[in-house]
Amino acid sequence: MCKHLFSLLPNNINHDLTQFESGNLNLVHREAEATTASSKKTVNQKSIMNNRKSNHAMKTATNSTTEAPTMYETENDIPKSARAELNRLINQRLADVIDLQLQLKQAHWNVKGPNFIGLHELFDKIAEEVESYVDEIAERVVQLGGIAHGTVRMAAARSRLEEYPPTIADGSAHVEAVAKALSTFGREARASIDEANAFDDADTADLFTEVSRGIDKWLWFVEAHSQASK
Ligand SMILES: [Fe+2]
Repeated sequence: MCKHLFSLLPNNINHDLTQFESGNLNLVHREAEATTASSKKTVNQKSIMNNRKSNHAMKTATNSTTEAPTMYETENDIPKSARAELNRLINQRLADVIDLQLQLKQAHWNVKGPNFIGLHELFDKIAEEVESYVDEIAERVVQLGGIAHGTVRMAAARSRLEEYPPTIADGSAHVEAVAKALSTFGREARASIDEANAFDDADTADLFTEVSRGIDKWLWFVEAHSQASK
């Protein structure tokens, strides 16, 4: 036991055997354990610090090598300068369409009145289809070598839609607000067809043709609730 204990004792502990003989064994043992634990702790702290430093170095190295470029290289044959302009155009529509989708959810959640269930379900159905436009528009940016700017904050900063009225309740007020949001986005999407064609990008023009045609249909579905009384 003593040999084992001595092997644990660091150099700064008094090795005088008389301490063992005078009943100080436990005290010395505790000191030895404390000092050994302290040494281990110091070693552990050093290794943690070293790990942190190497992790930090790795992260720094990783960050410097994985930062996204403004445009990715691609074999897509649309000229790079045209793709850069198209990406600006499509990202603007992406901000608008994300805003539109959430405005439809806002209407879906808050509409009240005698036409509640019909409007509640219609607004949700439109929101679902608009969500598919969000995905197609975002992916067109990436197909052209760009980066889709699709977070809620990015969309809020760029959207051209007016803010949805926050306190309306009656179905007719929601019909009017949703119709306005759909028509605003429909107008922008339709204008984007010509802008995409100006860059000889028939595929982006086709995407916005499909989207604006869908928006026109939903605008009809919504406005049909109020047109008879006008
Ligand atoms: Fe719902």
